[in-house]
Amino acid sequence: MSTWANLGLQDSASPLMEQLIFFHDHALLILVMITVLVGYLMFMLFFNTYVNRFLLHGQLIEMIWTILPAIILLFIAMPSLRLLYLLDEINEPSITLKSIGHQWYWSYEYSDFNNVEFDSYMIPTNELSNDGFRLLDVDNRIVLPMNSQIRILVTAADVIHSWTVPALGVKVDGTPGRLNQTNFFINRPGLFYGQCSEICGANHSFMPIVIESVPVNYFIKWISNSVNS
Ligand code: CUA
Repeated sequence: MSTWANLGLQDSASPLMEQLIFFHDHALLILVMITVLVGYLMFMLFFNTYVNRFLLHGQLIEMIWTILPAIILLFIAMPSLRLLYLLDEINEPSITLKSIGHQWYWSYEYSDFNNVEFDSYMIPTNELSNDGFRLLDVDNRIVLPMNSQIRILVTAADVIHSWTVPALGVKVDGTPGRLNQTNFFINRPGLFYGQCSEICGANHSFMPIVIESVPVNYFIKWISNSVNS
């Protein structure tokens, strides 16, 4: 979860988010190098009075400053493409979670387990316990096993929503009449918070997502209790 003064990305809880952070840092480093170089050149050009009376053209330098940016862009485009295809890969998931966006709450279905289904509403501030997170905690959390490939199917019942959990590197639109799919792997236990990130109406800000990542045997206990009740 993001807290005060956290201006960067959240710590990753999945291998894909780790790769996204690496790519972000890589792109930012290239950006800094370009900014410093161009800034230095502009500074030196503004603050000197040298004039070359015979300068009309420079074939070599123009070749260099045309081709060099193209090569630099390739250094961003190649890892970007690699990541794009990695994010889209479905790695034989062991369970599937279906998530349906409503105005304004999420509902979930565990289709592999007798279709366990429940709604997940934000806890209003006046009902919040002292250790709860305002505008972020929900009444029914998603429980998922860690160290397993999980497929998530996202759709919506009314308008477009977006199922977004930053620590997992997941952001999938839920669109009425369509079923979107993605895949993630949670590599540590914990609570992971997310929010809807498609402007979906008056209470868009109040449909958070909470994932409780637990060891597989805990998950089996939880799901068998849910199936039997
Ligand atoms: Cu649902 Cu914004």
